[in-house]
Amino acid sequence: MSDDQAGSGNSKLHSAGDPYAVVSKFTSYQESALIGTAVEVGLPNLLYGSPKDLDGITAALGTDSRGTLALLSGLVAFGMVERENETFMLTPNGELLADEHPSSVAMIARKEWFFYKLWAKMPEAVRTGETQTRAWADRLENDPEQAHDFLRALDDLCRLYGGDLPDLAGLESGGRLLDVGGGAGSHSANLVEAVDGLQATVLDLPGAEAVLRERHPELAFVAGDINDPRFGRPEGEEWDYVLISNILHDHPAEENRRIIKEAAGLLAPGGSLIVYEWVIDEGRTSPAGVASFTPMMVIENAGGWTWTEAEIGEWIEEAGLTPRPLSQGPGPIAVIRAERS
Ligand SMILES: C[S@@+](CC[C@H](N)C(=O)[O-])C[C@H]1O[C@@H](n2cnc3c(N)ncnc32)[C@H](O)[C@@H]1O
Repeated sequence: MSDDQAGSGNSKLHSAGDPYAVVSKFTSYQESALIGTAVEVGLPNLLYGSPKDLDGITAALGTDSRGTLALLSGLVAFGMVERENETFMLTPNGELLADEHPSSVAMIARKEWFFYKLWAKMPEAVRTGETQTRAWADRLENDPEQAHDFLRALDDLCRLYGGDLPDLAGLESGGRLLDVGGGAGSHSANLVEAVDGLQATVLDLPGAEAVLRERHPELAFVAGDINDPRFGRPEGEEWDYVLISNILHDHPAEENRRIIKEAAGLLAPGGSLIVYEWVIDEGRTSPAGVASFTPMMVIENAGGWTWTEAEIGEWIEEAGLTPRPLSQGPGPIAVIRAERS
């Protein structure tokens, strides 16, 4: 029997849709919520290297027995926890959620849990176009614990996914690099390791320094503000490279125009601007990772957005630099390098 014979009225739509796939997408929040909850209540840290029964877990965490058993059951279903008789233990993937694991993703889970709650406000962001959280400078100053964990998560994300920058940027040996809004110094650290003789200085708000000292103490740090002329650097100071990594998506077009102009003004003759960014195609639907990242920028930052190669190229040319074609790595983040003649 065809769809039409079944009285569907629109055979094309009925034959194309897969309700199971849609429902499965819709309910995938449960996995994120259980992992976020586990990290928030401290379960992976408790069980790491130390399996326990339910009473031992609730006594240590101060949690409710029924709620905790429900959490554990879900985590077993999602492959994070195993149960052997009365004992619960982490699986190898579950162990990655413990802070002490050498390849821990706990900070990333905390960051995503923060966004999980924010994404529930997406309808408001869609209706109004307005950010649904406090500005970053406010968070860094008034909620440093959460903001520092956020910077630690970015450093962990760079460890997992940021290894492509040195190849994409293709820096020559030697030279001095200023990493504007460099946070924990993650990308500078990768570049210094890959490029002989490169010296990197991270410029960021003063509140970011503690995380840089903790994660990459080998790097130099200067306090500076992207909103200030020359980001607060003195007249006459020149850099061989200025890196702007994951900054443009936090700002509206006019601010980016200014940021790139200030960055260009810091370059020595022959110096290069390196933009490492989630660049979206002209149709604004690909790469897929960038398309799904765009809503997060709208919800997180006033004027946050993802930009095309042409838009970034226009700001670069207006600043008097010559952009090379975009270098796209295997991940969603790409490099646009531009030279000062
Ligand atoms: C999305 S993070 C990018 C961090 C790093 N560049 C990376 O690629 O992982 C944005 C960075 O910009 C910094 N930032 C935000 N506002 C700033 C400002 N007004 N002046 C200087 N840095 C700022 C933040 O502290 C944070 O380190």
